[in-house]
Amino acid sequence: METRPDGSIIVYIGITRSGKSTPVKEVCNKNSRVLAYDPKGEYAQLGFVECETREQLWQALKNTTGPGKIAFVANSRKDFQFWCDCAYNWNRQKQAVLVAEELANVTNAGKAEDNWGRLINQSMAFGPLILATVQRGQEVDKGLMNNASALHIAQHQTDDDAGYIAGKIGVGMEMIPREQLRFIVWRGGKGVLIRNGQVTFANNKPKFRGIKAGSNRAVPLSIEKTGRFKGVEY
Ligand SMILES: Nc1ncnc2c1ncn2[C@@H]1O[C@H](COP(=O)(O)OP(=O)(O)OP(=O)(O)O)[C@@H](O)[C@H]1O
Ligand SMILES: [Mg+2]
Repeated sequence: METRPDGSIIVYIGITRSGKSTPVKEVCNKNSRVLAYDPKGEYAQLGFVECETREQLWQALKNTTGPGKIAFVANSRKDFQFWCDCAYNWNRQKQAVLVAEELANVTNAGKAEDNWGRLINQSMAFGPLILATVQRGQEVDKGLMNNASALHIAQHQTDDDAGYIAGKIGVGMEMIPREQLRFIVWRGGKGVLIRNGQVTFANNKPKFRGIKAGSNRAVPLSIEKTGRFKGVEY
């Protein structure tokens, strides 16, 4: 069997339009084998092969043993669980990036269940990169929160929500972004890796800036295919 590096999970948390999908799409651009659970159809719009039924998804994945970008445009718990099963096996066949958008609609805040639980708890030896988005920290299930390699925290609206996530990662509430397209990146055991992060757009492309841990100066940042910001020690 080929040896693979361990997988990783990055969770993007923030209100709608805060800037969660922007970095996720940037990571997708840098990878050639990507499967998205795409309730809003936005990856399909980017040119992913669009699948609307389980049958279509199954066929598309079966025919894609190498590079390929596939989006499952669906929005039900059953469809999500099916996607998780497919994602587990497709990544096992060959390392892939797995995007799970808008998790709160299809998972519970408690224990990660069934195929989703298996994907985030048991697929890491097969080296996937899992990118998950959710609007509120309270909606992230325990398995995901515990296994996440990093949290990308974007705009929070209420003190309640900002306080929750600040408490989870052990920082003051003033650290949590309250404006659109601002972010911080945090890793368990390491703390805040990037603060005062900001996204701007030029010619339709996002540009990232932020202050790396141990520095006081904002610098341009680029996202690597691993989902990590280049030059930042994770
Ligand atoms: N290419 C682009 N050029 C200019 N603005 C953009 C571009 N892509 C996204 N934006 C803007 O950036 C903001 C964040 O978008 P993004 O899709 O990352 O948010 P999100 O947190 O994923 O939101 P949602 O909950 O709607 O999925 C939005 O206001 C959006 O209009
Ligand atoms: Mg989004």
